[in-house]
Amino acid sequence: MTALDVVVMAAGKGTRMKSRLPKVLHRLAGRALIQHVIETAAGLQARRIVVITGHGAEQVESALAASAQAAGAAVPAFARQEPQLGTGHAVQQAVPLLPDDGITLILNGDVPLIEAPTLRELVQLCGGEKLALLTVDMPDPTGYGRIVRGGTGVRAIVEHKDADEKQRQIREVYTGVMAVPTTLLKAWLGRLTNDNVQGEYYLTDIVKLAVADGAEVAAVEISDRIQVDGVNSPVQLAELERAWQMRNARSLMEQGVRIADPARFDVRGRLQCGQDVEIDVNCVFEGNVSLADRVRIGANCVVANASIGAGAVIHPFTHIDGEKAGVKVGEGALIGPFARLRPGADLGAEVHIGNFVEVKNSTLARGAKANHLAYLGDAQVGERVNYGAGSITANYDGANKHRTVIEADVHVGSNCVLVAPVTIGAGGTVGAGSVITKDTQPQALSIARGKQVGIANWQRPKKAGPGRS
Ligand code: UD1
Ligand code: MG
Repeated sequence: MTALDVVVMAAGKGTRMKSRLPKVLHRLAGRALIQHVIETAAGLQARRIVVITGHGAEQVESALAASAQAAGAAVPAFARQEPQLGTGHAVQQAVPLLPDDGITLILNGDVPLIEAPTLRELVQLCGGEKLALLTVDMPDPTGYGRIVRGGTGVRAIVEHKDADEKQRQIREVYTGVMAVPTTLLKAWLGRLTNDNVQGEYYLTDIVKLAVADGAEVAAVEISDRIQVDGVNSPVQLAELERAWQMRNARSLMEQGVRIADPARFDVRGRLQCGQDVEIDVNCVFEGNVSLADRVRIGANCVVANASIGAGAVIHPFTHIDGEKAGVKVGEGALIGPFARLRPGADLGAEVHIGNFVEVKNSTLARGAKANHLAYLGDAQVGERVNYGAGSITANYDGANKHRTVIEADVHVGSNCVLVAPVTIGAGGTVGAGSVITKDTQPQALSIARGKQVGIANWQRPKKAGPGRS
């Protein structure tokens, strides 16, 4: 098998995005457009990936280097194209980085949904001998390069602006994707001129040169147009986002996941699901999320970087974001509605976290409950602890964070402040409204609040009325 090298073109400006961010760094499904292309290329076992950068080169290169490093993948090679003199000129910049013995596959950084099987087919068609083009039938081909066929095969690609009336009737257009033997590519690139309406070096002119040399030009027409749609504007970005989301939802549903409405379902990262998972409407999943068997996610939840254990239920309007540290929810836990789980929340089996409860960097052992209006930060909570409504750990002294340990079977009453560092002894009870600043004894009732005073026959002050002095 001939080795494969990939060139990804990403030097263009993307004027119609009307954004300061380079076009290829706009996000689709939580990842930069070009990241999708690079991941697909990497899946082809490409020997080398060369990205052509120009507009926003530093930003594009550093973003790609960072995401490769984060994923433990190889950083692609970069070739700068300055100024941008056309797609042929773009690929010329990669020439020194392309070994002669391979096939070069050319992709666009702004065409994110191209799929590996399509590319494999194209590379196979090239076979190290032919110039293989990926084409598509466009109902409105305005702006695209037309595939001019004649005799036994493709004769040329004629750019829209250079095409005559008859050529403009052709609906088969070049998608921007080709596979070509590298030695031939290099020879043809060396012969390109910019003698055309736009004064650019067109990559597509290599077709004429191939025909002139008697080389075979083959074309495969793709019927799945979404794969070759490019992003030029926010509208197209949103359209491709929905297309990606619908595809992803479908594939999850085919695995058995029950999604209430695939049109109201967003994955911006990777979502893994076990059996009998149910997801209600308007949920967003970000980063790496795994849902074990029988997990149920209620409507309007955002879940990021978390693993949810078997049979757990996440009630509506819950926000879970594990960021780097992650969030773990144990088997059979009940979370929400309106709960917030932050990085380092590690909840055991059967834990209950209720409405307006925030948990950060804390472990809760099996069966612990915090059901209403509470905060647990930097805490270690034992089995079966009941943590009362309105209670908080005061974990931050303004400079440092301190830990709170609540041992097994403790009952913390409502509206308590546990001033860390502090330990609440096993089986103890903390009276409602206590401010606990010292460790408490196991099994003891600890109360730290003003004593109740009763003053009999108390006369409330009266308002001064009119006419009185
Ligand atoms: C190109 C093709 C056209 C095809 C269309 C498909 C040429 C001459 N024409 O047209 O046949 O139908 O794509 O979308 O190739 N780029 C650079 N450097 C440059 C110019 C472009 O890196 O100097 C990059 C762009 O960032 C983009 C890609 O190449 O990723 C295609 O450029 P674009 O201007 O969109 O190509 P078109 O002229 O639309
Ligand atoms: Mg152009």
